[in-house]
Amino acid sequence: MSDKSNVYVNQLKHHIGKEVTLRGWVYNSRASGKIQFVILRDGTGLCQCIVEKASVPEELFDRIKHLGQESSLSLTGVVRADERSVGGHELAVTDAQIIAPAEGYPITPKAHGVDFLMRHRHLHFRSQRQWCIGKVRHTVVDAIRRFFNDNGFTLIDTPIFTTVVGEDQTSLFEVDYFGSPLHLTQTGQLYLESAAMSFGRVYCFGPTFRAEKSKTRRHLTEFWMVEPEVAFIDLPGLLELAENFVSYIVSRVLEDNRSELETLEADIGLLEKIQPPFYRLTYSEAVEILKGPKTVEFMARDLADLQSEKARTEVRIAELEQQQGGQIKQWQKDKIAAELIDLRSALAETETKIENNPKHAQLAAEFAWGKDLGGSDETIISRMHDKPVFVTHYPREAKAFYMKTDRADERVVENFDMLAPAGFGEIIGGSVREDDYDRLLAKIHEQGLSPETYNWYLDLRRYGSVPHGGFGLGVERTLAWITGEKHIRQCIPFPRMMDKVYI
Ligand code: 4AD
Repeated sequence: MSDKSNVYVNQLKHHIGKEVTLRGWVYNSRASGKIQFVILRDGTGLCQCIVEKASVPEELFDRIKHLGQESSLSLTGVVRADERSVGGHELAVTDAQIIAPAEGYPITPKAHGVDFLMRHRHLHFRSQRQWCIGKVRHTVVDAIRRFFNDNGFTLIDTPIFTTVVGEDQTSLFEVDYFGSPLHLTQTGQLYLESAAMSFGRVYCFGPTFRAEKSKTRRHLTEFWMVEPEVAFIDLPGLLELAENFVSYIVSRVLEDNRSELETLEADIGLLEKIQPPFYRLTYSEAVEILKGPKTVEFMARDLADLQSEKARTEVRIAELEQQQGGQIKQWQKDKIAAELIDLRSALAETETKIENNPKHAQLAAEFAWGKDLGGSDETIISRMHDKPVFVTHYPREAKAFYMKTDRADERVVENFDMLAPAGFGEIIGGSVREDDYDRLLAKIHEQGLSPETYNWYLDLRRYGSVPHGGFGLGVERTLAWITGEKHIRQCIPFPRMMDKVYI
């Protein structure tokens, strides 16, 4: 296994004309006369390997020919550059070693339903789509760490078992901690505030837990959040930090993962526009937009677009169903079956959107100042923009106890949500923190929290309190937005959702 001739698919360009060995799994295999075309997947890419009957022992050729999808093997051969081939190279095989043959691999090139794929998540990882998402996730996580490490922030690891309610009391996972109740963390923020008073600029990055009874495409019960916290910062400073941060993440993905974005059919044109400054709206301005003529017009246009999309999909489905009934080869039938599964699920989605359109339009028209923006309100605002939008200054009743009351308008707090463009919705929530001891204590009482539990947090306002603030960015939502995935369950290796934990 330590043979120097072992190489990875993504290194083939350095070995043209040379004999090398690739080790991996059969992604696909088809025969054409006396040649077997094996597409090998090795974790770094795909390579077409050509096994000619005349070039290897006959018995080996037969065994390779009958290898099932995902059999593992090593193939030795000469590397050729070939633009038309997957990955741009081919291997003319001279020798092979079958490591472990596989039969009846359950995930075939046909499309499968979500439930089936989730139950087979441990295998579904090997699919091209999941591989691409995994690669982009890797870049996003690396960019997150690099951005803060390169900008003078210190990493602080905050605890997962906590005594405090970080966000809201209705979404706590309680754990029995040797007979005493504790919670799984909803945010590292409160602990991070204490660290900011020591280091100035800090961040934490880890898993976060919310027992939210939301079965939407944007909710997980376990997700990853990165949270910076900065001493001596105001709201404009926080918005600037957030827009530079998100622009950096997107630019890194464009730099490192262009081919993955292409495979995923992400909106690269939109991503290329993600540069500061982002749009800025106050909550009151957002409410005015929701209740105004712009939204009425927008929703009517959206309904008309959805109806024509539905009609187009129905025509295509009818065409394919007709072809399916004709005299065609099995592989053509499989291809049509796969396309039909995709089209039918797209049709169901469009139908749900058509059904929800009037409901969402009405919710927007009747929006009452004082409520938090709901998922559909965020979607409307975000779809009206081609770059992220900051919505700032929400009503204080709608938000967490630690947010600073705006001294110029006491009805609102100095906070913001960042909505990703083109309909994705919120990816960041943040605020300036209440730094006045008396006001903070009053808010703790107001929200029915126990002042004893927050005594240590109040200490931060007793001893050298300073203006400070921060925000939290959800990794899976950011990834879903960047890659164009509709549901964030595809953006975490093993998703935990309210209604289902598969494996
Ligand atoms: O707006 P949130 O609740 O903010 C906080 O937790 C603050 N304490 C952060 C801070 O100021 N340090 O959550 C921040 C982000 C959201 O914008 C979203 O991206 C993600 O966390 N998020 C979720 N992601 C997936 N599933 C859920 N159930 C999520 N809830 C929040």
